Amino acid sequence: MLEKIEQVFVHPSQFPDRVYQDYLASFALKKINHKFHYTSVKQSQKWLKIHEKFSPTRQDENCIDAYAQCFQKTAEILDSDPSNLNLKLNLIGLGCGGGEKDKLLVSHIFKPNKVLTYYPVDVSLSLAIISAQKVRSAFANLPVQPFVCDLLQSNDLISIINDRAPNQRNIITFFGMIPNFSPDEILPILSNFLAAGDLLLFSANLAPGSDYLQGIQKVLPQYDNELTKEWLITVLLDAGVEREDGTIQFQIEADSQNKQFQRIAAYFNLKKDVSLKLEDRLIEWKSGERIRLFFSYRYTTPTIQEMLKSYGINVLAYWEPASQEEGVYLCQKV
Ligand SMILES: C[S@@+](CC[C@H](N)C(=O)[O-])C[C@H]1O[C@@H](n2cnc3c(N)ncnc32)[C@H](O)[C@@H]1O
Repeated sequence: MLEKIEQVFVHPSQFPDRVYQDYLASFALKKINHKFHYTSVKQSQKWLKIHEKFSPTRQDENCIDAYAQCFQKTAEILDSDPSNLNLKLNLIGLGCGGGEKDKLLVSHIFKPNKVLTYYPVDVSLSLAIISAQKVRSAFANLPVQPFVCDLLQSNDLISIINDRAPNQRNIITFFGMIPNFSPDEILPILSNFLAAGDLLLFSANLAPGSDYLQGIQKVLPQYDNELTKEWLITVLLDAGVEREDGTIQFQIEADSQNKQFQRIAAYFNLKKDVSLKLEDRLIEWKSGERIRLFFSYRYTTPTIQEMLKSYGINVLAYWEPASQEEGVYLCQKV
């Protein structure tokens, strides 16, 4: 099969020198930046497998339906506003992953009389291309422009996209992203992406049931399993750490900045001293220390609503599947 060249825009936040500084910082601070779990092809493939096996959106029809209802509502809002007829629409998938949800959204909002462009945005080149190709293969006439960036360092990304076509309205997706960032860090950035009239489609992993901590306990096996451990240890093995140097342990912990929020965290507990030479930098870890590999916040719908409101973002409507493990929120900036 003859394959077309894929044109991908790479934001300076993912230029090699910056990425390498972030990589060194992860090892020096003993806190692995989440982006280093997705960046290689091997890691993105491992993550896609975990997503396929454990994500409610791949396993639970009721959860897929919650997204479909949100997308239907989005289409109705876009259709009911006559000013949209003269506007170009941009669908910007922030942290698009494998692009499944964005593809389903396109199937609801892509109409012959609308000018729509899809921007899959991800820190992983591999995932940005997978999303671009997935959506393009389903909607051959839809312009698609993948972007690689680190969202934490790309405050100018929205103006770069907006400059490409004036007179436009943005639909921003932010699915499954909020759990892996500290809310104080990512929400100002997300808010900066939104202008009046834009729509934000946001989803979060929730703690099911009425008891917050018990709910988190219930979903712990979706994280504390061999596939996930294998994915999370990859970044260490690739740097020269040995499996026998430690063990991965999951725990539920409070966020030290926002004590009302709890998250599931994974640590690599060192059983031995480890010294790594990363280029000219010597990293020395001592037995008994631990390396934070990962965290995932679990929220509830009221905490999501309150948190978004404090950044001027209103939840217009929301959907929760019967399992209550995920919430899908249709939002707009006030
Ligand atoms: C949990 S997945 C969610 C994927 C997708 N939105 C979904 O719901 O299936 C997180 C995604 O965020 C991306 N990501 C992680 N850190 C990022 C960063 N700093 N900037 C941009 N994307 C990032 C990952 O590569 C991955 O695709």
